[in-house]
Formats: sequence, structure tokens, C-alpha cells
Amino acid sequence: MRKPMVAGNWKMNKTVKEAAALVSELLPSLKSVPSVERVICPPYPCLMQLSTLLEGSDVGLGAQNLFWEASGAYTGEVSPAMVKEFCQYVILGHSERRAYFGETDETVNKKVKAALEIGLTPIVCVGETLAENEANRTAEVVTRQVAEGLKGLSQEQAAKIVVAYEPVWAIGTGKAASGPQANDVLAKYIRPTVKDMYGEAIAQGMRILYGGSVKGSNAAEFFGQPDIDGALVGGASLKAPDFMDIVKAAAA
Ligand code: PGA
Repeated sequence: MRKPMVAGNWKMNKTVKEAAALVSELLPSLKSVPSVERVICPPYPCLMQLSTLLEGSDVGLGAQNLFWEASGAYTGEVSPAMVKEFCQYVILGHSERRAYFGETDETVNKKVKAALEIGLTPIVCVGETLAENEANRTAEVVTRQVAEGLKGLSQEQAAKIVVAYEPVWAIGTGKAASGPQANDVLAKYIRPTVKDMYGEAIAQGMRILYGGSVKGSNAAEFFGQPDIDGALVGGASLKAPDFMDIVKAAAA
């Protein structure tokens, strides 16, 4: 049995003050849905204060990125240990980081390894662009991103990974994939690739989320699919009622 997970990716939204207000509003309702693993991923400057606000609750905190080196002359970067001070999770390889900040399967793999070594749970994002989708390259792209991003892990490390399938054309566009369409990618390409790499038990135990324009009104369509174990939510994670609708749908 895979525990459902709903993670909110706030992206570059919310100051510390705004973040604290949103978490204070969310927390009582979030606490009432323990059957779902709930995670909030705010910008770096909010992590310290939110970790204090979330202390003693079972709501997880995640960063949206990290750098793989432990310390040193890497201006503007944040190390795994700095993230670990406040977080249990980290989003890695988000398509916006791949598109705007030059992340590749190779750098994602370095980050995945560094996150696991420090004891963080990586939420590794994969997904094809619109052009790749239209050229029928979804299978090839997603398979490569999983194989390259997750390569070289021990069985124990692989078992900790969460994957998020986020078709780039569905992110922030209001144009979500359909439930069956998303499930197909998980069932035909993502789980089988993990199985080839790490065996059946790890493939079957791995949580795989869907992301891309998830909202209260379409969440149930995704969570009703056999291979979809939850959601990575962008826009709809920025307002408490919208996020709670999705978390409740995952519990249902
Ligand atoms: P969205 O973003 O829900 O706003 O489409 C999802 C994501 O980028 O993780």
C-alpha cells in the first residue's frame, strides 16, 4: 500500500510574512487529514519560520531545489545540509529549473544523490514538453529522465524516492492531462523503468504523483487512477481552501 501524498510547490511566491499567514490558516485543516502525507514547499527564506510553525505536526516541509556540494564558493547556492536543517523533502528537477536554469538529467542525478545522502526525501520531477508530446516522444523523454535522474542509487535509496510526473504543457496552463492519460505514462513508462533499474518491489512501492493544473475540481479524477499516488500542486497550493480541497480528495 502506497500512502497518498499531496505536496504544494509554492514556486517563487510568498514573503515570510505571507507564508506564515497561509500556514497558520492551513494548519488546523491539514492536521485533520493524517491519512495523506502533506508537504509544503515554500521559497528558501520561509523555511526557518515555517519549520517552527510546523513543529510538532506531521505536516512536512520541503525546499524547491538544492546544490550538490557540501559547502564552498558557490555564490547563490544552498547546500543539502542547509536544507536538511529545516526540511524533510526537496523538489528536484522541476521543469522550470530544467527550462530556465539549465538543469540536466546529469545535474538532477547529482542532486538526488546529495539529497539522499543527507537524509532528505527527493520529489523528482519528470515530464515532456508540448513539442515532445506532439512529436510522440513522451515515452522516450520520460523514460530517459527517470533512468538518468535515478541512476546509481542503492536499493535502500531508491525506495525513498518520490517521482512527480508533470507534463510541461499542463503546468500553470489550466490544461491538465486527463486521469487515464497521466496514469498511462506512470503505468507504461515510469514504473517499468524503475522496475528495470531496481526491481518489482521498489517499482510497486514507489509513490508517483501527477502534477500540472491540479485543482479541487479535477483532483479526484487523478486520485482515482491506480498508479497515481497523489499530486504536486502549484497554483492551487497558494490558497488554503483550494489546497485543502485537493488534500481531502486524496484522503477520500
Ligand atoms: P500548477 O504547477 O499546479 O500550477 O500547474 C504544478 C507544478 O509546477 O508543480
